[in-house]
Amino acid sequence: MIRRFVVLGATGDLASRHLLPALARLHEAGKLPAELRIVGAAREDWDTATLRAHMTERLARHAAGTKPASRHAVVSRLVYQRADASDPADLARVLDDVREPGVVYLALPPSVLEAAVRAVAGLRLAEGSRLVVKKPFGENLASARTLNRLMRAAFPETAVFRMDHFLGKQTVQNILGLRFANRVFEPLWNRSQIARVEIIWDETLALEGRAAYYDSAGALRDMIQNHLLQLLCLIGMEAPISLGERDFRDRKIDVLRAVRRLAPDEVERRTVRARYDAGRIVDRPVPAYVDEDGVDPDGETETFAQVRFSIDNWRWAGVPFLLRTGKALARNRREIAIHFQPVPHLAFGHETDPTPNILRLQLDPDRLSLGVNINGAGDPFELESVELDRDLAAQDLSAYARLILDILGGDPTLSIRGDEAEESWRIVEPILDAWAAGRVPLGTYPAGAANPVGGTD
Ligand code: BG6
Repeated sequence: MIRRFVVLGATGDLASRHLLPALARLHEAGKLPAELRIVGAAREDWDTATLRAHMTERLARHAAGTKPASRHAVVSRLVYQRADASDPADLARVLDDVREPGVVYLALPPSVLEAAVRAVAGLRLAEGSRLVVKKPFGENLASARTLNRLMRAAFPETAVFRMDHFLGKQTVQNILGLRFANRVFEPLWNRSQIARVEIIWDETLALEGRAAYYDSAGALRDMIQNHLLQLLCLIGMEAPISLGERDFRDRKIDVLRAVRRLAPDEVERRTVRARYDAGRIVDRPVPAYVDEDGVDPDGETETFAQVRFSIDNWRWAGVPFLLRTGKALARNRREIAIHFQPVPHLAFGHETDPTPNILRLQLDPDRLSLGVNINGAGDPFELESVELDRDLAAQDLSAYARLILDILGGDPTLSIRGDEAEESWRIVEPILDAWAAGRVPLGTYPAGAANPVGGTD
């Protein structure tokens, strides 16, 4: 039974924007163990009263959907301890004094993560303790390997939770349900029937004051290395034997291992990178990315990234998987679109072929639609394209709350396994290298653009 939840980096944005709001939601849903104490630690010279006042204010903003009493209940469990997460002596003070198993959540920037993991791994935490890290896991393949090595020396793999909040979204269940609880899709789910797959996460959000993190990450590391590759796994995986952690994660790693590592000339042909300039999103003026506070104007951080991947296996050989994400775009477009092959022969004698079928899974809120061609209302020989669609029920818990519940319950199924994190770096690193070598020019687009130059419409 977990009685202590320690957040290292408690004064940072992640803790107040996602973590504490998730705990407030769990409390409201009656799912937070009554005896759970929350310890916040950071380098700031704060005390418990300062941390509680800070969280009260932030929760009012970021957990506005919860009742004030739930927010208050969570805030009043908080205790502050001053500690430098990379200092073993400080951590020993925060973590070592308790013999009962606890959760240690590292809400820390990538730059201090390794030192913190080293320090935590050096302590003998009570058996049953869990270590949680957020994405991106490491800054490249080498640092992900080092982190994994340090973690494995101190924790069993099933006690390490590499959190990717996309796996806590309802979408995961929806994709698995759609694919593996229906017979009709499986015979179509392969290279013979599917022409291409698009996984798109366009956002109207711009930088939102996150330069300290984002300017050293960029769109490829922030979204594609983790969230979008995970969605690719769910679309591309074979049917798991069960949804137990091993079966589910084994099938995902199979897909990642089959994703082709692009050669530099393929990076040139298959990727687009761009950055937003000043513009307007609806009636909101947005400054150029380089003029945002904290951005290095000489840096080449991309705010839009698109990659056409190949999955080299029997099911998917030859089917492009296009992953695309961008900030400060015209509209939120978050979807997975499965484009089917056109019909092999059309008996209607039309000059133009009908639109091939598209199965769309829109995310946040989730909605499923299938584009089909039917006979027109007047002339039955005229074709008409229509969409059969359906909103999918919204989940009651946020993605973060859902994953934290799993952490408290010790279920790592929806956490990224160490080998998945490494494979994902293996996939994106050649792209990062080719971009750093200047092989793909950094384009620009005005904030509010529907589609940056070179991006797929
Ligand atoms: C985060 C990224 O992990 O996911 C953000 O750092 C992005 O840049 C966000 O905006 C998108 O997810 P959601 O669930 O907040 O829409």
